[in-house]
Amino acid sequence: MMGQNEYIEKAKSLLKEMSLDEKIGMVHGSELFKTAGVPRLNIPGVSFSDGPCGVRQDFEPDRWCAKGTSQDYVSYLPCNSAIAATWNTKLAEASGSVLGEEARGRGKDMILGPGVNIKRSPLCGRNFEYFSEDPYLTRKLVVPFIKGVQKWDVSACIKHFAANNQETDRLFVDTKVDEETLEEIYYPAFYDAVKAGVYSVMGAYNKLNGEHCCQSETQLTKVLRDKWGFDGVVVSDWGGVHDTKCALESGIDIEMNVTDNFDEYCMANPLKEKIESGEISEDKLDEKVLHILVMMQRLHMLFGEERKSGSYNTISHQKSLLEVAEESIVLLKNENVLPLDIKPKERILLIGENANKMHASGGGSAEIKALYEITPLQGLSMILGGNNTVDYVAGYCSNTSEIQDSSWQATSLVNQENAASNTEDVKNQELMKYRKELHDEAIFKVKNGKYDHVIFIGGLNHDEDQEGYDRKDMSLPYGQKELLVDLLSIRPDMTVVMIGGNPISMDPWIDDTKALLWMFYNGMEGGRALAEVLLGRVNPSGKSPISFYKKLEDCSAHSLGEFGCEGEVNYKEKDEVGYRYLEANKIKPLFSFGYGLSYTDFEISDVRREGENVVSLKVKNTGKMDGKEVVEVYKKHKSNKYIKLCGFDKELISCGETKEVKIQVDATRDEKLYIGTSVDDIVAEI
Ligand code: GLC
Repeated sequence: MMGQNEYIEKAKSLLKEMSLDEKIGMVHGSELFKTAGVPRLNIPGVSFSDGPCGVRQDFEPDRWCAKGTSQDYVSYLPCNSAIAATWNTKLAEASGSVLGEEARGRGKDMILGPGVNIKRSPLCGRNFEYFSEDPYLTRKLVVPFIKGVQKWDVSACIKHFAANNQETDRLFVDTKVDEETLEEIYYPAFYDAVKAGVYSVMGAYNKLNGEHCCQSETQLTKVLRDKWGFDGVVVSDWGGVHDTKCALESGIDIEMNVTDNFDEYCMANPLKEKIESGEISEDKLDEKVLHILVMMQRLHMLFGEERKSGSYNTISHQKSLLEVAEESIVLLKNENVLPLDIKPKERILLIGENANKMHASGGGSAEIKALYEITPLQGLSMILGGNNTVDYVAGYCSNTSEIQDSSWQATSLVNQENAASNTEDVKNQELMKYRKELHDEAIFKVKNGKYDHVIFIGGLNHDEDQEGYDRKDMSLPYGQKELLVDLLSIRPDMTVVMIGGNPISMDPWIDDTKALLWMFYNGMEGGRALAEVLLGRVNPSGKSPISFYKKLEDCSAHSLGEFGCEGEVNYKEKDEVGYRYLEANKIKPLFSFGYGLSYTDFEISDVRREGENVVSLKVKNTGKMDGKEVVEVYKKHKSNKYIKLCGFDKELISCGETKEVKIQVDATRDEKLYIGTSVDDIVAEI
């Protein structure tokens, strides 16, 4: 394996042979998802593709028009929030490996993911692309994910650096965050990724403390390169660079945009003019080209080196993604309803548009042209087969169109108004009338259909969870609240499944709900995984990577800080983000960070400190089913106001088995530790 110095020397030898034009061709897009390269010197262009949920479809080189062949149907991964809900570092690595192999298989050099921005508010439209509200859980999963990607000679591109936590005014909003909070909350996942050797970082659209992130000397040079020692490639978000001189003075290496005037990009002809006039030193350009050439060597793109070939849509990928999907499902309530004991000839009714809805093709740049996507209706029907009746009624309808218009990104930086046109705000009488019909049909079916089991499957979709859009509140859209109240009054034993990228308010139906499952957008195998959990073939082991607030005011971004502002947004809540604020102010959420039930029960005992940073303990499965348990370790924040996650481990424990578990913790010997199965369920202190 060549060392960094050898890479640099070889890069310098190439650089010496390059003309100014050739260097400039390396540092800006010459197509929407590619740079020019230097064919004369056998230097290929860098080929990019979105995103965290899979390899995005191919577009025409210079316009937002999908190529539309059958070549770019790919595996559709569970979203990053679903991966986080597994609390399983091995599955995070497996997810990254699928993404990396598929990207290589599609001939890509850089996959634009994972997204690691902290979920500061439950209203941010892109939260489904991110892991958690907690920086520790995020950092512990993102490192194996990145390693999984990069072992396929593809660069992961961790994004969006930094503090990109809302979609409102996303191109220009100036995020104001103090240094200490950045270090405690918003930097750690990026820092760990850099230390773990991520090859690329994507600058965020927003400003941070007055500087556009994609051309910020503070963020990209002083923090990322000088302080953290990052020697990889920084790519802009598409349209995130605004000024040639700032860009050259900052640590940005490649400017990408959504427009086809490639030669007019800040780092194209304008840069050439400034270098030729002497206003900008060519040395600054050379630094950027060197970063790119070093990354290319790491990906074995140069000097005729052998490179992994990758492949996509493999059976093994589908198996891996099923495993991730199974372990991401969170059981939030279960009063002797689940798993469903379905006998031959019994009849099952599924109610809710999300039982029958595919989500892959929505959400913005994370959209995926999935080879397939199993819906919950398919999943249950495939397993229950001909001996049972599985019926479906929509019960409600969103006003989403199945396939997002692929040209949306062409104007995504121009009309910044929220994509409200796709959501509940579009009130037309037709729709309301239709929704009433669906509501009444569902009630009639439940009353008269003689069903042995009724399952509601609702929640959100990519009208509500999408790039460029923040929700206005946490309300459950499309009349689902009223429908749930009516349905539960008829069938109090009804199982409720919510699918989405963000928590929703659950009043008043939650109190009458005996069984509740939460599933993030769960990839191509999501429907099968849900069916397996509902039927008890898989014991749920997901733990929530977010707090489920009772009301929006319980979230510090809305009670202490600002969110969704245009122009400037102040993170006045500082480090009291997510559960930290709830703990510090003794506010009880509906469901806590780290919470998730199982079909079996576990007991933690013999908790001991071993050495500087290892906790050992025993976990016993006292129930009747094998299951996986996550043991979480917390410690006091230095302010003493709350406890924060500092270690976790997930283990499979057979029924009746007692397992010795050792957990690596990020804590010093003198720090007190709190051990439990969620931030609010502490069972031992040492
Ligand atoms: C988008 C997103 C970014 C994506 C890029 C390319 O606007 O912000 O996450 O990777 O542009 O589509």
